[in-house]
Amino acid sequence: MDRILITGALGQLGLEFIKYFKKSDTFVLATDIRNPHEKLSCEFEKADVLNKERLDLLVKKYEINTIYHLVAILSANGEKNPFISWNVNMNSFQNIVEISVDNNIKNIFWPSSIAVFGTDSNLDFVPQNPSMNPETIYGVSKLAGEKLSSYYSRKFGLDIRSLRYPGIISTDTLPGGGTTDYIIEMLNAAKNKSDYTCFLSKETRLPMMYIDDAIDAAVKLMSVERKKLTISSSYNISGFSITPSELEDQIKSRGFNIKINYKPDFRQEIANSWPKEIDDSSSIKDWGWSCNFGLKETLDKVFS
Ligand SMILES: NC(=O)c1ccc[n+]([C@@H]2O[C@H](COP(=O)([O-])OP(=O)(O)OC[C@H]3O[C@@H](n4cnc5c(N)ncnc54)[C@H](O)[C@@H]3O)[C@@H](O)[C@H]2O)c1
Repeated sequence: MDRILITGALGQLGLEFIKYFKKSDTFVLATDIRNPHEKLSCEFEKADVLNKERLDLLVKKYEINTIYHLVAILSANGEKNPFISWNVNMNSFQNIVEISVDNNIKNIFWPSSIAVFGTDSNLDFVPQNPSMNPETIYGVSKLAGEKLSSYYSRKFGLDIRSLRYPGIISTDTLPGGGTTDYIIEMLNAAKNKSDYTCFLSKETRLPMMYIDDAIDAAVKLMSVERKKLTISSSYNISGFSITPSELEDQIKSRGFNIKINYKPDFRQEIANSWPKEIDDSSSIKDWGWSCNFGLKETLDKVFS
């Protein structure tokens, strides 16, 4: 039986993982640096992931055998304070690896991001292994994490599995300071019948994924036999790609009459170094990835 520790469990993805594991009655210990607003459906312990001793104690106390390490300072917040971003993203990764080695935990899920690429990567359709020169501290830390995943897996026999998530769309849980947050903000503005000022230009095409696909993909990747996996860094996965103006058209075609203004800020530069489309053929071939939510299905869910 899996006994899962989730770090960063109160964030956009963590709360959705908790909901998912609740359905299968899997034991989950949720941890975060802050307290939950509402009672969770699983165990919760407040813990700073930079406090290795506390995490080690919790891993022993709850007999954890699998870790979903979700803590990160995301792209836009990272650019406001690169030193904090590097410290949190890398030292938390290091702590999780050390605790896993010390407690004989082999199974770790750690999300990477489309931020690992950069303008050398053929952004129109990014392959699995292009030349990568990320332009944000977030992307640099994710790429370093990917390299460390391969290294530590070889060195210590760990089984760290990873996906390069695109922008994740969920409207129940709020985004945590990334460059793709506009899509959730615009959808929520439509639902609340309020106007919206978009921080990216109309024509900025970025890859996105509905939250249910993001969770299913992680769980599926974690369940596949290791010998089927040919990538030890992180797998490309893809949902659909969209621009803010295409999203505006879609929202209006569904009868929402909101006014959208465009006022690009510092996040535009980040978006310019991110992919437009992703080649996820290695995921399809190795572990049977398939996306259930295209644009239409995603919007049907969001507005249902
Ligand atoms: N959301 C996306 O669109 C997206 C896209 C690509 C990759 N990812 C990756 O998925 C993971 C989860 O992302 P998310 O969107 O849920 O992030 P989020 O910002 O919504 O949540 C992060 C959580 O970590 C917690 N946290 C921050 N510092 C901490 C610390 N020192 N100790 C313990 N907890 C701490 C925060 O309180 C927050 O609840 C991250 O690794 C992120 O890089 C997310």
